Amino acid sequence: MTTSAPVVLIAEELAPSVLGVLGTGVEIRHVDGADRSALLPALAEAAAVMIRSATQIDAEALAAAPNLKVVARAGIGLDNVDVAAATERGVMVVNAPTSNIVSAAEHAVALLLAAARHIPAADASLREGQWKRSAFTGVEVTEKTVGVVGLGRIGQLVAQRLAAFDVELIAYDPYIQPGRAAQLGVRMVSLEELLRESDFLTIHLPRTPETVGLIGAAELATTKRGVIVVNAARGGLVDEAALADALRSGQVGAAGIDVYATEPCTDSPLFALPNAVVTPHLGASTTEAQDKAGAAVARSVRLALLGEFVPDA
Ligand code: NAD
Ligand code: MLT
Repeated sequence: MTTSAPVVLIAEELAPSVLGVLGTGVEIRHVDGADRSALLPALAEAAAVMIRSATQIDAEALAAAPNLKVVARAGIGLDNVDVAAATERGVMVVNAPTSNIVSAAEHAVALLLAAARHIPAADASLREGQWKRSAFTGVEVTEKTVGVVGLGRIGQLVAQRLAAFDVELIAYDPYIQPGRAAQLGVRMVSLEELLRESDFLTIHLPRTPETVGLIGAAELATTKRGVIVVNAARGGLVDEAALADALRSGQVGAAGIDVYATEPCTDSPLFALPNAVVTPHLGASTTEAQDKAGAAVARSVRLALLGEFVPDA
């Protein structure tokens, strides 16, 4: 049975701005998109589905959604959407590519500084009644070399922010205009050079077949001993088991990790290591980013359901 008002299925928690922008004239339904047994039947009548990163809109989900016109990703990464399968079915896929870039960049910088100064471990130790100072000796960022892997929107914001620490910036990104890197004061290098030269390494790549496993045991073995690694992009870009081994051996001094190969994740080998600073995919979790992402994709959904032209969000 199809209802008269198009059904917009909200499959993850989105900002309140979404409902205001969608307005009346649609029927809003909610489902937990991470629960496949609830998601698939809920898609049957959906004209639009709105998601973040926890919902997989793959070929099976699309096949369960015969009325679907638009998949709206309230954020950047589209690695949880089968865009080719959607396109084949005539389903539009929209995202909000600039909505959370500042939040994600700030989170990467926060992880880098927290890892450099052991802030979570020192905080936990003090709360346990221990006054330890030498155990938490850190390193300065200033005058070090920071390697940015993926100098896109977020990588560039991270580079701009870290420039204030008076660091040497290098980056690996075969697709970036060299002129843009020069403007930012970033020297473009090969991945091998970046791994060899960096004191801090921060990853800002999309998850694609080319980028999964880009930094594994072999790559970590070529870094400076004690390098600090930050991944606030996608799980799987850095091999978690290899990173955990390198953290144990001291090859990697510390790491700041926001994303995991499979999410939700509660049992990574990283979680037992005091020199790993870990957060549960919080890069975009700010009021500002969620408002922007939600409102942008809600506008796109409204236009798509009206059959109007949908400009880039
Ligand atoms: P972007 O497209 O602007 O930048 C990605 C950069 O990676 C591009 O410059 C591209 O040339 C480069 N790249 C692609 N493939 C590459 C490869 N094989 N080798 C080297 N470089 C390669 O994207 P962005 O806005 O900077 O976002 C990057 C990623 O960050 C997103 O795809 C998303 O997965 C992730 N992200 C995470 C959070 C979070 O909450 N942790 C928030 C936002 C975005
Ligand atoms: C993104 O790609 O935008 C991020 O993963 C943020 C998110 O949706 O939580």
